[in-house]
Amino acid sequence: MTMPLDQIVYPGSDQYTDQELAAPGSIPVELGGEPLVTVIDTAYILFQVPDLQKQQRFLEDFGMVAAQVRPDSLYMRGYGDAPYIYAAHRGDKARFLGAGFRVAREQDLQRVAQETGVSIEEVDGPGGGLRVRLSDPDGFTVDLVWGREAVAILPTRREALPVNLPDRKQRVNDMQRPPLQASAIEKFGHYVIMVSDFERSWQWYRRHLGILPTDVQCTVSGRPVLAFCRMDLGEVPADHHTVVLAAGPGARYMHSAYETLDLDTIGQGHQYLRQKGWKHFWGLGRHILGSQIFDYWLDPHHFEVEHYADGDVFDNTWQTRYHLMDRGGLWAWGDDLPAAMAVRPRIADIPKMLLGGAGWRKTMLEMKRAMARAPRPWLK
Ligand SMILES: [Fe+2]
Repeated sequence: MTMPLDQIVYPGSDQYTDQELAAPGSIPVELGGEPLVTVIDTAYILFQVPDLQKQQRFLEDFGMVAAQVRPDSLYMRGYGDAPYIYAAHRGDKARFLGAGFRVAREQDLQRVAQETGVSIEEVDGPGGGLRVRLSDPDGFTVDLVWGREAVAILPTRREALPVNLPDRKQRVNDMQRPPLQASAIEKFGHYVIMVSDFERSWQWYRRHLGILPTDVQCTVSGRPVLAFCRMDLGEVPADHHTVVLAAGPGARYMHSAYETLDLDTIGQGHQYLRQKGWKHFWGLGRHILGSQIFDYWLDPHHFEVEHYADGDVFDNTWQTRYHLMDRGGLWAWGDDLPAAMAVRPRIADIPKMLLGGAGWRKTMLEMKRAMARAPRPWLK
């Protein structure tokens, strides 16, 4: 079976050898049997933080709106119709907890509850609804949610600004004046986690979310190590990725991303966050896989969060594409990946590093080498 191979071309990609280019897709990511359930949307992301007030200040400057503030919990919404898209609970240590996804029918929850033995319970945040709270192989929470109440959308610009092209002027006797303000967030779009066993986590997420791999990056040996997965909405186009699984020495949160309207929204939101003194991380730029315009920030608890706009969407006829993993393949223009994005082993990773086996260690080494290759040396 031939796998669609999409060679990513950027300055520096001519370093690829024929052997390297032959490898991606040689070990495909298998869909397996029918998933238990197919999710239809993101619901929310969940964190634990010591300082809820500071987190709220950042999230408001980032473009969210407080939906409900309790002494020990914070629920933030976007400008879309979800009652909340982000929840933080007070705790001693800053921790990523997990994420929630919407399912289409109550029967979906019943089936999952029956198959997993986990009870259906009420969602404790605004908007109510029912959920089945699952735990992924690394212990991250995955909630499947049904029946929460939508809220009225909030007013914000939802139309593109009229653009003047060299041979087509749409804006006459008028100006571009996007306001300096927080970048209004429409929704929680995706999150990226590192997983301690890529194959095991892929199988788990495929079964419990029904997701499809859109783009898969592979090592020089062809081993899949980074999967950008989208929801299967049938003929309805879905975002290029909603869940991204990355192989690594241990399990951890990498970043979460929130959709905004366009480049100007992101640009003015960027200035706004700088003005407020928050810490910038990476961007602006445009991704290659997914095509999003992006801008990454660090929240007060050092979690990476991303604004994005203009991402690709695909329906379920789109086939998985395989690529050689390297650093340059992650963005089309903008600054090089920040050094802080490099994966550093932690103490908790030691058992896996000792017991992972020779094959696993080889994969880790190949990933390390791939990420060490400087694709655009002039950016350093
Ligand atoms: Fe992202």
